[in-house]
Amino acid sequence: MIVLVGFMGAGKTTVGHLLSERLGLPFVDSDLVIEQRSGRSVRQIFAEDGEPAFRELERRVVADLIDGPEAVLALGGGAAEHPDTAVRLKSAQVIYLQVGYDEAMLRVAGDQGRPLLRRPGLETLYQRRLGVYDNVATLTVATGGRRPEAVSQDILAQLRVRRA
Ligand code: S3P
Repeated sequence: MIVLVGFMGAGKTTVGHLLSERLGLPFVDSDLVIEQRSGRSVRQIFAEDGEPAFRELERRVVADLIDGPEAVLALGGGAAEHPDTAVRLKSAQVIYLQVGYDEAMLRVAGDQGRPLLRRPGLETLYQRRLGVYDNVATLTVATGGRRPEAVSQDILAQLRVRRA
């Protein structure tokens, strides 16, 4: 199982698609599975039930996905903060896509589907999560100023070296 973690705007979905094509594995996005299971968008879940309810849904979905068939799995930016998820990630190859705060904000600017973007204190949340991503990562890749193709090639090369 290859799992991608990182803040919103790190490129988890884009890089995940590229990796899945190259590795011949299905691509799974935890937010999409949450939306399919609940029949609502992430934005709706946050608005109607609140963030704690979303996090519980996310914890359950991510647990099922990590235990499920081999895939390239992109996690929502907050998923790895849940202690249960952090423990489950110990069985996976966890790739942390690093992105600076300003660049992340530029990449996701104006996205209405990400409820946390309108929250005060977002940069503090970003800072807090840096340690979380570091702790779960088995491989860390800088994405600043780089195209998704280059990031994906870099990851594949590093995975090859590790397998050799
Ligand atoms: C979140 C990130 C989002 C989504 C939700 C909460 C977060 O996913 O799970 O809006 O807590 O950072 P992306 O990281 O794919 O944007």
